[in-house]
Amino acid sequence: MLFPLLTLSASTRKVAVSRDFTALSGFFVSSFLYFNGDISLKSVKIGLCGLGTVGSSTFNVMVRNSDEISSRAGCQITVAQVGARRDHPACDLRDVAVSRDIFEVVDNADIDIIVELIGGTTVAKEVVERAIANGKHVVTANKALIAEFGNDIFAAAQKQGVTIAYEAAVAGGIPIIKALREGLAANRIEWLAGIINGTGNFILTEMADKGRDFVDVLKEAQALGYAEADPTFDIEGIDAAHKLVILASLAFAMPLQYNKVFTEGISCIETKDIDYAKKLGYHIKHLGIARRVGESIELRVHPTLIPEKRLIANVNGVMNAIVIKGDAVGPTLYCGAGAGAEPTASAVIADIVDIARQISRDSQPSIPSLGFNEVSDKPLRSIADVQTAYYLRVLVEDKPGVLSQITTILSEAGISVEAMQQSEPEEGEVLAEVVVVTNRVQQQHLLGAVNRIETLASIHGNVHKIRVESLG
Ligand SMILES: NC(=O)c1ccc[n+]([C@@H]2O[C@H](COP(=O)([O-])OP(=O)(O)OC[C@H]3O[C@@H](n4cnc5c(N)ncnc54)[C@H](OP(=O)(O)O)[C@@H]3O)[C@@H](O)[C@H]2O)c1
Repeated sequence: MLFPLLTLSASTRKVAVSRDFTALSGFFVSSFLYFNGDISLKSVKIGLCGLGTVGSSTFNVMVRNSDEISSRAGCQITVAQVGARRDHPACDLRDVAVSRDIFEVVDNADIDIIVELIGGTTVAKEVVERAIANGKHVVTANKALIAEFGNDIFAAAQKQGVTIAYEAAVAGGIPIIKALREGLAANRIEWLAGIINGTGNFILTEMADKGRDFVDVLKEAQALGYAEADPTFDIEGIDAAHKLVILASLAFAMPLQYNKVFTEGISCIETKDIDYAKKLGYHIKHLGIARRVGESIELRVHPTLIPEKRLIANVNGVMNAIVIKGDAVGPTLYCGAGAGAEPTASAVIADIVDIARQISRDSQPSIPSLGFNEVSDKPLRSIADVQTAYYLRVLVEDKPGVLSQITTILSEAGISVEAMQQSEPEEGEVLAEVVVVTNRVQQQHLLGAVNRIETLASIHGNVHKIRVESLG
């Protein structure tokens, strides 16, 4: 049987059908949909819930690029209704129906896909649950909702035979979920490591480039709108932990276990740590790391020294980047805008297009993260057992024998020293700073040695510790 090819232009609503492949050779291939012979076209209807930064941009990009979007989806995509509490000047809704009650949109029988862009885990959760119960597919950018309630949401969606898509929830515009699900589908993922919070990366970059201190840069990040009035989610690693568990669930086919991620923020990083690291050939980045070790998985978010020669060490400002190491492909790097109105809208619309393709082909829905039957009992490694190299900084009395006391304690704990540096004391001072980079060691052994070092009479204050990853 010969399948006709079909193209659709959203603006002209014209359908062109051809049985001659060569007649179409001047067209872009992704404009075509292989069709099963029935040329009744499905029009896919969207209910857009939330018209803030991402919601308005999603609407604007859908209008601006409607031809490209519809032709890639192979069907017409229409925003049928919007749920918004008030008028938003950021987009011109034209004649699209607006409801002040978001649940009217969710209950609208004509709508195929609910796009949840209100954020938070209360009303948004109700919206998503009710959309699923109503048999609608869902697109969301809500990392907190997926990270904290995704397991139940996915189970409900699977039962109802609908799709939950959340590309925009991790790393904004970077198509990282697609890369993990599709591009790297052949690989056993060994580890992934990412700069997945732009605010944190902006702060560390400014500290490194301009020698500014943490509090000063944080204030600027808030003024620029990069950081919220309450910046805890960004600087303490909570936002990164949300995104990390989502990536790990896809990489290792495991349930989302947000509350088990080891999380350490960047507020402890001082400019002098960045300077010492630089002298030793490292940059400091706030990384989310998920690593397979034997049968268990490590999930951790913390500041990390990375060799300066790694590409990811040089991703600066608000940009995000993720390295994924697959057994077949080796390390691959994905870099781009991790947030922002249009980059995030780009990811939201990519999900809409994916689902629209499914609907118009009448194929089975798929949920990105539902491989977890296989390994739901896969244990998470305790942070005490995790092995990394360490950067240690300690204030010592500038007198003979102190350095050898430190190295003896490290060596007795089986920890070797990769690099060591002692600064000269300031004029008239008797204290000097010593920086040590160790080999890879389990955290529990490192902490034992650090506790002993802190009891030495010639040591002042605590030992400052930052993990080091080679990412090779
Ligand atoms: N902004 C980014 O760069 C970015 C990047 C990646 C992911 N995300 C995610 O995208 C989602 C949306 O973020 P955003 O930055 O667009 O937030 P936002 O600007 O605060 O927009 C949220 C919108 O939802 C509306 N809303 C809240 N509750 C509602 C309700 N009950 N009924 C109707 N409307 C309601 C708000 O209305 P009011 O205007 O009346 O308050 C607001 O307009 C979040 O989950 C966020 O984590 C954002």
